[in-house]
Amino acid sequence: MFELIQAAPPDPILGLGEAFRNDPRTDKINLSVGVFQDDDGRTPMLACVKEAERRLLERETNKNYLGIDGHVEFRRRTAELLLGVDSAAIAQSRVATVQSPGGTGALRIAADLIGRQFPGATVWISQPTWPNHPQIFQAAGLLTASHPYLDAAGTGLDLDAMLRTLETARPGDALLLHASCHNPSGIDPDATQWERISNFVRERGLLPILDCAYQGFGRGLDEDVVGVRRLAESGETLICSSCSKNFGLYGERVGALTIVASDADAAKATGSQAKACVRANYSNPPIHGAAVVAEILGDATLTAQWHDELAAMRRRIHAMRQAFVAAMAARVPNRDFSFIADQLGMFSFSGLTPMQVDRLKSEYGIYIVGSGRINVAGITRGNLDRLCDAIATVL
Ligand code: LMR
Repeated sequence: MFELIQAAPPDPILGLGEAFRNDPRTDKINLSVGVFQDDDGRTPMLACVKEAERRLLERETNKNYLGIDGHVEFRRRTAELLLGVDSAAIAQSRVATVQSPGGTGALRIAADLIGRQFPGATVWISQPTWPNHPQIFQAAGLLTASHPYLDAAGTGLDLDAMLRTLETARPGDALLLHASCHNPSGIDPDATQWERISNFVRERGLLPILDCAYQGFGRGLDEDVVGVRRLAESGETLICSSCSKNFGLYGERVGALTIVASDADAAKATGSQAKACVRANYSNPPIHGAAVVAEILGDATLTAQWHDELAAMRRRIHAMRQAFVAAMAARVPNRDFSFIADQLGMFSFSGLTPMQVDRLKSEYGIYIVGSGRINVAGITRGNLDRLCDAIATVL
């Protein structure tokens, strides 16, 4: 039977990581997968994570299963981080959080939940988006549709065009929004635009799903969830969050689906349906990463240390954005890259064509995603010149 199966194409992002690892060139540069690197090109383990693990190692007495919805303290702290400690929804018990294997796991639980409860819903997704988004919702049997996001230059948000297309959405459809650090463009709505999106969603009866994978990587922990909080204040909302980037816990697969409902009974019932999706999928989530996050967020000293380490990662990315813009201006003065300095998070759309991306890989061992998305967090003082020389040549 397996002889009849055709090979799947490589994943547009993770497939590049495999190709990079197999590339024998010693001066190769990986700007593909969204993983933070320090200025030495290493992905560090946060010191607060190391300390939390040390404490857990001393204290842990078993590796029992977690409940279907995961680590109790992790879930509580996650909801507070997203919605704020003074959130009215939390105080009114209108929130249910289910731990998930990473942000992707959270998106898949959300997709399964919608697929089971509202099977006719279409999920609207920005064009461009993270390539995994459509397939996660399609895998749950849902239809997806796309709306425009960027302006013609590709360097700003065209909210009018986005909402014009969304006028064709039907009540009960879902709208997937990037909470901050839009992947792949790094272009986010401002507070006024979030207000407009929130009013639009409620007027039209759409269900907002916030993908929150980069909290703290844009402007700050609270600043990056302005849209999440606005939408959660305005009505029913699903939030899919990840601790991969902001805690550097990539391989531990730590994330959560947070459901904000209109009353406590609805939160309980919807949360129980999310648990049913989990049980039928992977039974219950892994313990270690969630215990680490709970340990950090439950201790004032470790939390302060985490804030500092997160701010340092954020500052490094901002600094690399500025260095990249300056280095490109020196090499290709007639092409404006200044927009890259204004964008937020790990990624920017470079505007490079697929052919130029291909040349960077084959001739220079520089790996970026085919859409032209650059992981700015992979640029270092050590690889900046070589990178910009190569880009200038292919341009
Ligand atoms: C990315 O967009 O590079 C990250 O979110 C990692 C992934 O799973 O694709």
